[in-house]
Amino acid sequence: MNFKNITVYQIYPKSFYDGNGDGVGDLQGITRKLDYIHNLGADFIWITPFFRSPQRDNGYDISNYREIEPMYGTMADFDAMMEKANSLGIGVMLDMVFNHTSTEHEWFQKALQGDKEYMDYYIFRDGSPDEPPTNWQSKFGGNAWEYVPHLKKWYLHLYDKTQADLNWENPKVRSELKDVLRFWKQKGVKGFRFDVINVISKPEYFENDTIGDGRRFYTDGPKVHEYLKELHRDAGLDEVVTVGEMSSTSLENCVRYTNPEEKELSMSFSFHHLKVDYRDGDKWKLQPVDYRKLKDLLETWQLGMEENGGWNALFWCNHDQPRTVSRFGDTGVYWKQSAKMLATLMYLMRGTPYIYQGEEIGMKNAGFNSIQQYRDVESLNYYKILTQSGLSDKEALHVISERSRDNGRTPMQWTDGDYAGFSHHEPWIGLSEDSKGICAENQINDEDSIFAYFKSLVKLRKENPVIADGSIEFMYSEREDIFCYRRSLEGREMIVLCNLTADTVSGDFASHLAGMSRLMGNYPDSSVHSGGELRPYEAVVYQN
Ligand code: GLC
Repeated sequence: MNFKNITVYQIYPKSFYDGNGDGVGDLQGITRKLDYIHNLGADFIWITPFFRSPQRDNGYDISNYREIEPMYGTMADFDAMMEKANSLGIGVMLDMVFNHTSTEHEWFQKALQGDKEYMDYYIFRDGSPDEPPTNWQSKFGGNAWEYVPHLKKWYLHLYDKTQADLNWENPKVRSELKDVLRFWKQKGVKGFRFDVINVISKPEYFENDTIGDGRRFYTDGPKVHEYLKELHRDAGLDEVVTVGEMSSTSLENCVRYTNPEEKELSMSFSFHHLKVDYRDGDKWKLQPVDYRKLKDLLETWQLGMEENGGWNALFWCNHDQPRTVSRFGDTGVYWKQSAKMLATLMYLMRGTPYIYQGEEIGMKNAGFNSIQQYRDVESLNYYKILTQSGLSDKEALHVISERSRDNGRTPMQWTDGDYAGFSHHEPWIGLSEDSKGICAENQINDEDSIFAYFKSLVKLRKENPVIADGSIEFMYSEREDIFCYRRSLEGREMIVLCNLTADTVSGDFASHLAGMSRLMGNYPDSSVHSGGELRPYEAVVYQN
């Protein structure tokens, strides 16, 4: 299936649209908003998990892979959504959380009863109650092992303690998971996103990590490529679009995951470019964005993937990340320009764009100022860890407000009415504090809106094969204030030129753009040709 010229729109169902008035988004809500997504021009929707789940991690803790969590609706609602999506030509991509299940999953429940067959579905190790088998850390804070007194064993959980890691060494586990893929494929699903798929293969022996938190033992682990090839072959993944979420991965591995000859995945999400505001690589230590590093990382990944036949998923936002305009752009006077500039910069590169709900209207961070407003398990855990480590309440809240995953989880802003038109009922999580005036309704028919701009970008990708198929070359690499690249395909050339700053910048741009014409930009006209200057956060696209 061709995945190079598509655009994917990501939906976080809990916060997208509430169809039944209980304050929680649902499948009926998605169905009712598919026309909106169609209007934007997206070809696929990726919906994060709506399967049966105790919702400890908002659905990434699955207790039944084949059932719908009642809060989101029924299988009939799912079928109705599929029908509507099909009628609009929108492919549906589902989120497969295969590294772990909820501890409420039947398999884990049987394991807890001491059933040997099911204990082997998970990673249990002996050990004394006061000493976990290794010092590995959970990604949500604390040790990654949980003790089960009546079994006198520990089980591994790289995420929350209610998310037990599956034992991929066990062929029965792999076969169960392939069945899950077949089940959803038969229901007409056209794509899969694989959650943290590069941590599924654990080492043969478990040992303490004397220099880190354990991740070096299981990240891009020993058999991960073997397992992905098997999944690809046995579940017929060549018939669908697949994307793997790769935690702390390497370029070399992403080439292997996504080079078509390897027959593993269509493309990968990697996160290095979203860590450029982490001090010492620590998400909970703030530092201003290092634009130099951002540029270097994007360039390295673009060039490295192209050279070796890999394929990137292009994205700024998702349900785990703060809002891009708050993070890399400007939430004040240049809100609109910077939101458009960031989209131009990212989505015309080589790869497949993933637009996250609300990004297309420039939604901002949550701006919460009390811990009671947060819902995310990771944020709540880290609030405790940070205050215990000596930060004052105020300092800890400041860190959380910058880094919390809830920044991307506030209700989608549809209108300027009550609850931003997301629901008639008070939503499960509060609106962004800075939501007034930023909504889909105001933007759909406004030609100068962020929405209209995204729409033009999506259209441009479809109409100009140089974007999906062309090669990429970076210009002005040494300049920190500018992001610029040239796409080329059989004599066709496109230049994308972006000002990363709130200042006017100048350069010999005109010489590069000579003989080309302006296709689009985020200011009504361009001064580039005449003055050789770029206005604050200006983005322009030229083509020969
Ligand atoms: C991924 C998901 C995230 C989830 C985690 C554990 O990173 O995107 O939301 O918490 O995996 O499943």
